[in-house]
Amino acid sequence: MKFNGIIFDLDGVICSTDEYHYLAWKALAEELGIRDFNREDNMKQRGVSRMESLKVVLAKSDRVYTPEQKLELAERKNGMYKKMLNNMSPKDLDDDVLSTLTSLRKMGLKLAIGSSSKNTPAILKQIGLGDFFDAVADGNCITKSKPDPEVFLKAAQMIGLPPQDCLVVEDAYSGIDAGKSGGFTTAGIGTARDYEHTDIRLDKFSDLLKI
Ligand code: BG6
Ligand code: MG
Repeated sequence: MKFNGIIFDLDGVICSTDEYHYLAWKALAEELGIRDFNREDNMKQRGVSRMESLKVVLAKSDRVYTPEQKLELAERKNGMYKKMLNNMSPKDLDDDVLSTLTSLRKMGLKLAIGSSSKNTPAILKQIGLGDFFDAVADGNCITKSKPDPEVFLKAAQMIGLPPQDCLVVEDAYSGIDAGKSGGFTTAGIGTARDYEHTDIRLDKFSDLLKI
């Protein structure tokens, strides 16, 4: 491994909360009478902030919403999403992810989270990783979400390493773009595996041990 640190995206990389995001946005869309919100729309929501994600839903509506109404809608979706998160437990942490994280830690690497989600601390706690990472940069401490590199630069700063010394692991196009523009090498898993800007393609999480 030629890196001294790894910065992981959370939703869709460490755990499958990306699916819950989709289900909660889909439920909100249905409430608003938007019937054709689909997985392709959801792809555009990956990695971007809650309010940016709402824009993707409302792009399919003819109605015009005030800023206050938009806040209420985002809050409503988050309420449904948080109910789904409440059912999560350490059992929702994949064995392949847990054993790989443990091995990487034993190899002496600094491990951090770089996520746009404001629910990051709650999710990490639910899956039993509340105290695992050396640093957590998330939606609560940034002003610009991916594809801006802010969250990854913050994570790198928190673990005391320059971007060239860190690998960013992402499932979203916006996350790969954020990593690249911050000067990081990127590894893509899931949706981002075959993205043209991805540097290293992962079939599964434990492929990180082969780098
Ligand atoms: C990212 C997800 O991790 O977090 C996005 O990929 C989501 O889809 C964003 O919009 C913000 O999440 P939250 O939990 O703050 O609403
Ligand atoms: Mg993600």
